[in-house]
Formats: sequence, C-alpha cells, structure tokens
Amino acid sequence: MMSRINNLEDYAVDYRKSVTEPEKFWAEQAERFVWRKKWDKVLEHDFHDYNVEWFKNGKLNITENCLDRHLLNRSDKIAIHWVPNDPKEPDRTFTYRELHEEVCRFANVLKRNGVQKGERVCLYMPMVPELAIAVLACARIGAIHSVVFGGFSANALADRINDADARILLTADFGPRGSKKIALKEVADEAMENTPSIRKAIVLQRTGDEVNMVEDRDLWWHDELERVDNECAPEIMDSEDPLFILYTSGSTGKPKGVVHTTGGYMVYTAYTFRNVFQYKEDDVYWCTADIGWITGHSYIVYGPLLEGATSVMFEGVPTYPDAGRFWRVVDRLRVNIFYTAPTAIRALMAQGQEYVELYKLDSLKVLGTVGEPINREAWEWYHHHIGKGHCPIVDTWWQTETGGIMISPIAGVLPTKPTYATLPLPGIQPVLLDNDGNELHGNGVEGNLCIKFPWPSMLRTTWGDHERCKNTYFSTFKGYYFTGDGCRRDEDGYYRILGRVDDVINVSGHRLGTAEVENAINMHEAVIESAVVGYPHDIKGQGIYAYVVCDADKLEITTVPEIKDEIMDVVIDKIGKIARPDKVQIVRGLPKTRSGKIMRRILRKIASGETSNFGDTSTLLDPSIVDSIKIGVVKDE
Ligand code: WT7
Repeated sequence: MMSRINNLEDYAVDYRKSVTEPEKFWAEQAERFVWRKKWDKVLEHDFHDYNVEWFKNGKLNITENCLDRHLLNRSDKIAIHWVPNDPKEPDRTFTYRELHEEVCRFANVLKRNGVQKGERVCLYMPMVPELAIAVLACARIGAIHSVVFGGFSANALADRINDADARILLTADFGPRGSKKIALKEVADEAMENTPSIRKAIVLQRTGDEVNMVEDRDLWWHDELERVDNECAPEIMDSEDPLFILYTSGSTGKPKGVVHTTGGYMVYTAYTFRNVFQYKEDDVYWCTADIGWITGHSYIVYGPLLEGATSVMFEGVPTYPDAGRFWRVVDRLRVNIFYTAPTAIRALMAQGQEYVELYKLDSLKVLGTVGEPINREAWEWYHHHIGKGHCPIVDTWWQTETGGIMISPIAGVLPTKPTYATLPLPGIQPVLLDNDGNELHGNGVEGNLCIKFPWPSMLRTTWGDHERCKNTYFSTFKGYYFTGDGCRRDEDGYYRILGRVDDVINVSGHRLGTAEVENAINMHEAVIESAVVGYPHDIKGQGIYAYVVCDADKLEITTVPEIKDEIMDVVIDKIGKIARPDKVQIVRGLPKTRSGKIMRRILRKIASGETSNFGDTSTLLDPSIVDSIKIGVVKDE
C-alpha cells in the first residue's frame, strides 16, 4: 500500500482507486491505525434519506491513535510547541510522552467531576496548550467536546451550551490577544446565568488576574489537577460515536451544531494532513488558526497528532507586537510548513515589505491557505515574498461540515495555479450542477458545487435535529451533498471556488449567516426591519453591510450616528465582535417585491459600489426606494 502520494502518477492511481473501489481504498488507509475491534463493513450510506456510516462496528479511541501509538517511537519528539501572545513570555513545549500524561490527567479531572461517556463538554478558552489537552481529554473518556471560539459573546455562548445541553464548561480567567485581554470568565459568568444544564465550570489561570468564582460551581483547573493521577485508560468508542460538535452559521438565523464522529474523521484528517502538506518526520508544522474553528480541530489537534507531527500552536495575533510576528516565529522555530488564512496574508501585505525583509524564511517548504477565496494579488505576494518563489501553495477548500480538506493541491505534486483550489483529493467526487440540478459535464463550466459520494469525515447530522441536516445539505439537489459554494471548473479541469451562493458571508474567514446578524440588529428597540449583505473588503474578503429601517419616532430622539453605534453594540452583544457590521445605513424602506421578498441582489450591488445594472426591477413594489438607498450609501473611510 502506498503510504503517501509522491508524484502525479501516485495521485492518478489513488484517485482512480478511490472512485472505483472506495471501500478497499479507505480500508487500506484505516489499517494504519489502532483499532480495538476491526470494522465489519467499511461504508453504508444513503444520500436521499441521509445516513452515512464508516467502518461500521469498528471500536477505537482516537487519542490512543494520537498519543499512545507514538510512545514507542516518538515519545521524546515534540508534539506541541506553544508560542504565547507576549513574546517576552517563555514558550512551552510538550513531547508526545508529556502530552499523553497531561491528557490522561485532565481526563481524570473530567471523570472526577462526573463527566460520562456521550456527555457534552463546552470549551470557551484561549489558545493555550490546555485547550488542546482538554479537547483530547474529552475524547479520551468519550465525552463530546463543543469548542466555542473565544470571540463569541455571552449570548452566543449560552445558546451553544443550551443547544448541546452541556454539563461542564471549561474556561479561563482571561485570554491575551495582542495588546488586549479577553475577559473570558466574565463572559462565561454572564452566559451561565442562562444555562441550567451547567453543573461545573473548571477555570484555568492564564493571566492570574482576579476573577469572580462561584462557590459549588467554579473550580480551579490547577486545584483539580492536584487531585488526580497520571493514568487513564482510553474509553473504547464505536467508530460512529460522536467525537465533537462544532457550531457554524447557515442561511437561517440559528447556528447549527455540526456533528463529527470518530473512525472516519480520524482516517480522513490523518490522510489529508499527510498528503496535502507532505509532512515528513522532522518537519515543523504551523497552522495559525484558532482551535475554536474546524481548521484548528482537524489541522492543529487531530490531523498532526495522528501523524506524529511537531506542531506550533500560537496564542497571539499576526500584528502583535508588530507585523513581523509570524515571520519571526517561522525563523526562530525553523517552521517548514505554514498554513494560514487569506485575510491574514492581506493584512500583512498591507503593512509593507519591511516586516518581511528582516527575516530569512529559508526553512519554509510548503505554504497553505484556507477559509475563503484567495485573490491573485495575495497569492502572488505569499508566493514571492514568503515562499521566495519555491514553496508550493496549497489553497485548501473545505468546510466545517466536510471535516477535512476536500479540493486542494498536493504540495509539490499537483501543479498549482493562482486562486485555484485545483483538484479533488482521492475519495472526493465533486460535481457542478446547474440551478435545475443537472450535472454539468466537461470543462469550462460553472455551477453549484456538490459532492456525489460520501467521504469518511463528512458531517453525520446536526445536533438534535437530523431533519435540518437533511434539509440543509441533501434537499436542494436530490442525491447530492450541497456545499453552498459556487465553483468554476476551467479548461484544464481545475476547480476555482467562487464563494457562497446562499445567504452566508465570509468575513476574515469567519462564517456568518446574514439572517443571524439581522436577528441581532432587529433586537434594537428602534429597529423595524433590516437586511444584511456582504460586500468586497480589501482585508476581510467580505465586509458586513447592514440596511436598517428604524421607527421614525425613535429616530427623532436619537441621532443617526448614535443609533448606528447602538446597533453595532447590539450585534456585538448578541453574537460577538466578529459579526459587527462594517457599515450601517439607515434607510426609509427595503426594496421588496410585491410578494414581500427583499431583493438582496440589488442591496448587494449597492453595497459593492455599483450604481446601475440592477437587472430587472419591474417587480419592485416601490422602485423609488432604490434611488433613495443609492443616495445614502455608506462610502469607505
Ligand atoms: C466556507 C466554509 C474550512 C475551514 C475554514 C472555513 C469558504 C473555505 C476556501 C478556499 C475558497 C473557501 C467556502 C466554504 N472556503 N476554504 N480555499 N477557497 N473558499 O470553514 O467556516 O465552515 O466555511 O469557507 O465558502 O463553504 P467554514
């Protein structure tokens, strides 16, 4: 069996096999792992009444594969090299042996606090090693982790805790980020006022600054660790037992809990990590994502550890203390593989060359991007100034729901093309459909990106609501998984992702539903209704533009700038800073059709600076509204 794709021919062979004999192909990949009991059947699936099972009746524990499996040959190899936000603070490193021990200890802390197999544990943490340790500790005992990104507000956190019915919350006093400190415990306290299911909060001392501790509910992480021993046998899980829930935004207002299970997710994240990045035994790999997103789950925690990699984990932000921070870390730790988001590349590019020129960057071999389409300028800058023209860029397209990378170059194997995710990985069968659901064959076509055959790490359900999962992903185009993305397949058969075709916007690689932001805006007492759209933004990729209709009486007592500020505050309060609108325009009405539907197409055009070519506007109830909106459009600062 081929352990790695080394050249174009390997790719062609693997790809063909993955399509003609998918079960055999994935069984061979799965053989590399420790299974306590082998599966009876590799795959069972139904894309109509959605159900997928991989490695059916197989028994395993994913942490045994991430940790115990490496103790023989890699026990002293560094698994995680942690770099703190403040460059004056020391780094912390964990070998595989040490990480194994820490995970077992924290798993015992969870057990001591009554956490059972299958129970949900919510994590609201800074990017510290304890976050990775706690994630793995959950998996060790079969608890389902639900990590909530530290930038979400108390309301958003409470919604996610309640939806998952989580029993334990893991958090920290504060989370340092750049020159700021996020008051995680304070936000968690506010959230816990409305989360009846939470029994205990275990609080990590990150900064040591004072926080409020509630008796009988809040426990100190370090106190708990003193009460446990180092050994914790892995809980034996079924291949299809849920491993984690991760909330993500969709077209409707309510975020959904994407559920990933154990066996297939393990096999696929390891396979893609090894092949896409071409990770070699002594490489140092760095993914700059936050574990609060899927990229961090699959390519900071699980994928790299499954492959026994040395990985850098970074607490800070790209521009602190200055825009050379990434490159200083790359030089200092001799990073070979660097994986980041287009928004970070654009932000650093805008800061100028001098921050790059100070560094050698000669350890780099492979560069990656993820999260949003990368524009040509950013791709070229990354290629020439960071990769010095010799590092392949893997532009990896995938989603929270797909669990792992789906369409991407294989570093150094598949020729790259600026702004193209290029070709599907083995096991992935993408198709482009027109709006009537017909498959578009051949090259030089553009349509809705769907996947027509299951892959091991696809989502299994949305937590507590399987109907929603079916409706969202399997009903638009019968018999296909619909991604929500538009895509072009060019003359060479290469795929280029064009962006979302639904009401999802992608702000700095963070996914938000327009309805979710509108719901928040509408909570402001002066607001009658609102419509939110994305518009092109130089750094963020997309910015958030909100059109808001206010009660005329209320507008008389509050000035427009005041109302705009208040609206932004409501959004920060309901969702978090990541959802704060970049522009708010108070309008007298929204362009609606006679049947009451908002014509978002027009609003998107106005927000992106167009003043004509609005297409057919004959169905508008009041066409004069469009002109009035055009006059008041909010310009860039
Ligand atoms: C959406 C998924 C996958 C981890 C981070 C985002 C967009 C993602 C790319 C890429 C163009 C991309 C898509 C996708 N996207 N990667 N390489 N090129 N677009 O995960 O929050 O679930 O968002 O991000 O629109 O549907 P997510």
